[in-house]
Amino acid sequence: MIKQFLSSQAGHPKGMIGRLFALLMNKGNKDVYDGIMDMLDVTPQTSLLEIGFGNGQLLLEIEKTHPKRICGIDISETMMAAAQKKFKKAGLTDRIEIDRAGTEAIPFDDETFDTVLTSNTIYFWKDLRQGLTEIHRVLRKGGCFINGFATVKGLKDHSFTEYNFKKYELADFKKASIETGFKVEDQIEIIKDKAYCVKIIKQ
Ligand SMILES: C[S@@+](CC[C@H](N)C(=O)[O-])C[C@H]1O[C@@H](n2cnc3c(N)ncnc32)[C@H](O)[C@@H]1O
Repeated sequence: MIKQFLSSQAGHPKGMIGRLFALLMNKGNKDVYDGIMDMLDVTPQTSLLEIGFGNGQLLLEIEKTHPKRICGIDISETMMAAAQKKFKKAGLTDRIEIDRAGTEAIPFDDETFDTVLTSNTIYFWKDLRQGLTEIHRVLRKGGCFINGFATVKGLKDHSFTEYNFKKYELADFKKASIETGFKVEDQIEIIKDKAYCVKIIKQ
């Protein structure tokens, strides 16, 4: 019961527990955030989108690299409010654009972004290939998607991921990427066999 509750909070944080969970994720996902930051190549011309930004911690980090445009989407109303609170405190409400939406229908025109990124969300997408196809649509040609995620072995370390998590091996993600029109460009092994950041490029 508790495991099911925790897994549903991870996939769709709600209320006070959801906010607490997001704070724990900020700590637990720090190495993945760092991997994504290492892979990002932001210039003053870069437009970027984070999928499933949680409480907005990584968007705040990325903002410091001064992209031209910085956006995020998340399905959770609680996370929208938590991120807005952080951005308000930092004086960045007008600068960081966030929408309540999911990978099922990304609310941006074709070829809007140079970079799309996500940390620990692919387990909750309704369909990996459909999500990748949507990301491909909103990316410019040559643009990249950076995905930080834990593999089957990595998720097994957290017993609540037994429920509600779709699990992928590194090879599953790469195969789906190639099948949806991307080329695999680079990868960082965050924890041996357990967590990776993978950069794929829109062909
Ligand atoms: C495990 S949390 C990770 C939060 C943050 N990215 C981090 O690493 O700290 C998953 C987040 O993805 C969001 N989410 C789940 N499914 C989503 C989807 N299909 N599209 C966009 N966001 C989604 C959830 O609301 C939640 O905020």
